[in-house]
Amino acid sequence: MSLLESSQIESSVRALGEQVRPAIIAIDGPAASGKSTVGYRLAKALDYLFFDTGVMYRAVTWAALARGVAIEDEPAVGDLAHALEIDLCSPQPAQQDGRHATVRVDGQDVTWLIRAPEVDRNVSAVSAYCEVRRAMTAKQRQIAQRYGRGDADRPGIVLVGRDIGTVVVPDAALKLYVDATPEERARRRHHELHQQGKTISSEQVLADMMRRDRLDSERALAPLRPAADAVRIDNTGQSADATLVRALDALWATLGQL
Ligand code: CDP
Ligand code: CDP
Repeated sequence: MSLLESSQIESSVRALGEQVRPAIIAIDGPAASGKSTVGYRLAKALDYLFFDTGVMYRAVTWAALARGVAIEDEPAVGDLAHALEIDLCSPQPAQQDGRHATVRVDGQDVTWLIRAPEVDRNVSAVSAYCEVRRAMTAKQRQIAQRYGRGDADRPGIVLVGRDIGTVVVPDAALKLYVDATPEERARRRHHELHQQGKTISSEQVLADMMRRDRLDSERALAPLRPAADAVRIDNTGQSADATLVRALDALWATLGQL
């Protein structure tokens, strides 16, 4: 199967997708585990909406930093989360710069600004706040349920995050938990940052990432953990194609139970 061309994999996913409509697919996992890569490719092949929920927490964090709201000021950050207009839409033809979606905060395109190392370092503190989670979870659930009911422009949705299968949509048709070793994930993230022209040492990337994973896993509200019925995929040493094939296998197995 790993010898299959990507186009063959994607056309077989499309055939599968026609049998599971409408549907919600939930993908969780730690930083740089490859969950967006597999989620985006699954969504594209199934003609589902791809929804990376992490960008919402990043957008709140970026806005707090940009507007001088102290990250430690929980009530102020919570108010900001409720007030912000966070908009996600498909990239325009002129915006083919590797983005999966364009993210706007109060009309400003922040797609790349929310990937700054400073946002990485502060996002876990922001996402642990009760009012921030309340605001983001409500929006995510509303969108997921509309697609899940078949009331939207696409026949289904793939949501990617930390608490999708456990909190946002625990009744999703398929739940995946994607992981890889911290060293491999840090290598991937370092490579990405390097490609974007950002200078940061690989040791710093690993330290920042492990700190973020720890905060995300240990927080009281909606911590990062696999749902009891999630299919776990450890893709250490595996290509994105191989991960997609394993996600496909899980989709096949789910189909058999529908
Ligand atoms: O891309 P990466 O995996 O590094 O991070 P992300 O998915 O963009 O998420 C950024 C941060 O948002 C995470 O470290 C979590 O603190 C938070 N997050 C969350 O709490 N719940 C989610 N459903 C998604 C992200
Ligand atoms: O969404 P998440 O933070 O979990 O990770 P990602 O953005 O999907 O992947 C992080 C980086 O790892 C990207 O540059 C991917 O191309 C790369 N990747 C990889 O090298 N091997 C995989 N099996 C999956 C992703």
